[in-house]
This record gives sequence, structure tokens and C-alpha cells, in this order.
Amino acid sequence: MTVPPLIVAPSILAADFARLADEVRAIEHAADWLHVDVMDNHFVPNLTIGLPVVQSLRAATELPFDVHLMIEDPRRWAPGYADAGAYNVTFHAEACDDPVALAKDLRSAGAKAGLAIDRDTPIEPYLELLPSFDTLLIMTIKAGFGGQRFLPQLLEKVRTARRHAAAGHLELRIEVDGGIADDTIAQAAEAGADAFVAGTAVYGADDPAEAVRRLRGLAERATTGA
Ligand code: DX5
Ligand code: ZN
Repeated sequence: MTVPPLIVAPSILAADFARLADEVRAIEHAADWLHVDVMDNHFVPNLTIGLPVVQSLRAATELPFDVHLMIEDPRRWAPGYADAGAYNVTFHAEACDDPVALAKDLRSAGAKAGLAIDRDTPIEPYLELLPSFDTLLIMTIKAGFGGQRFLPQLLEKVRTARRHAAAGHLELRIEVDGGIADDTIAQAAEAGADAFVAGTAVYGADDPAEAVRRLRGLAERATTGA
């Protein structure tokens, strides 16, 4: 499998939950990953979907699943998402006392391992853990709800992480999540992100597939200078 240089991952949080399979098919040929936001009403106040929905949806599309766990006790729950066939499983640094051990569990269950950093969490304490991870998700909002305003100051963490990854020759996806849209994606790409989650900007558009293609074009132009 060739790895695309940039990943656009529509978030189904902004989709119509009564028509999830159709909503996924609407972006199936335009998107790279499907971003699935799991919230437990404890780690974040919001409550979304869990494993049974992910299992059912897995059978409805070929797209790789990028599962973003905004839950407490990820050591208990995260491997189940890998077993369900998720391509990448990301859990929050703030919710886990041994991120490296959980990353190992996820990789042995056949998934990529992702570490998420929320708005108020500094990146520095986690830099040395990055060799154990495939994906670093840097929130560009406070985790918990879609449709929030992008916080450009959080891109400083993306720059720091990208510098660190380049210096250490790490193979690391740096993903941004929150408020990614036509007017914000270029600055995130310039800061060093190479995976972009977009909920409202995709599912709020009249043509979600076209919105994905436009976002990808904007990110590509920002990184190639074309
Ligand atoms: C929020 C979620 C995001 C959310 C992004 O905590 O992690 O993935 O869906 O939604 P937008 O793109 O609308 O900010
Ligand atoms: Zn998310």
C-alpha cells in the first residue's frame, strides 16, 4: 500500500447519525481515512458512539478508520477498536498513565498507535515517547465538541513536534483536529501537519466529497508552494 503524503480525514461527528453508512459513502472516494470520535461523557462532557457502531460501520466501507478516543481508561477499551479493524487508534495522553504500554498493545493488535494532546497539555513531556507512536494528534480546539473555532496558537505544538520528528528521523503522522476548514488548513500544513480532520467543513458543505478535495488541494499548495 502506498502511503499518501497528506491525509484528509472527515469526522463523522458532523454527519447525520441516522444515515451514517450513506454519509460515509458520500466521501468514500475522496477521503483517506474516516475519523471516528468516541466520547464517553467522562473524559469529555459529550457522549457519542462506541464499539458496536464502529463494528457495524466497519462492514459498510473500505475506508481506513481513524478512531479518536476521548475516553477515560483507554487501556481497557482501546484494544477493542483495534480488534474491530480500526487502522489507527488514538487515545489521549491526559487519560493514560502508561501511553507507551498501550501503544505496544495497539500495535500488537494490528493497529497504528496514536497519541492525542488536548488544548491545555504541553507537548514537551511527550516528545520522548513519540518513537512508540505512528500518529500524534494535536488538538486545535478543546476536545469535546465539533464546530468550534480553530485556535492558531496551538500550531506551535505542531511545529515543535515536527522539528523533533525530523531531527529523530521518526516516521510520524502529525494530525490536527478541530476547526480545520478552507481558511485554516494551509497554516496547519505549513506548521508541519500531514493529516487533517475536518467535521463541519466536510459535512456542513453541500457536496462533502468536493469539500474534501478542496481541503486536500489547499493543504498540498501550502506544503509544495504550488
Ligand atoms: C472534537 C473532535 C473533532 C471534531 C472536529 O473533539 O475530536 O474530531 O469532529 O469537528 P470540526 O471539524 O467541526 O471542528
Ligand atoms: Zn476527533
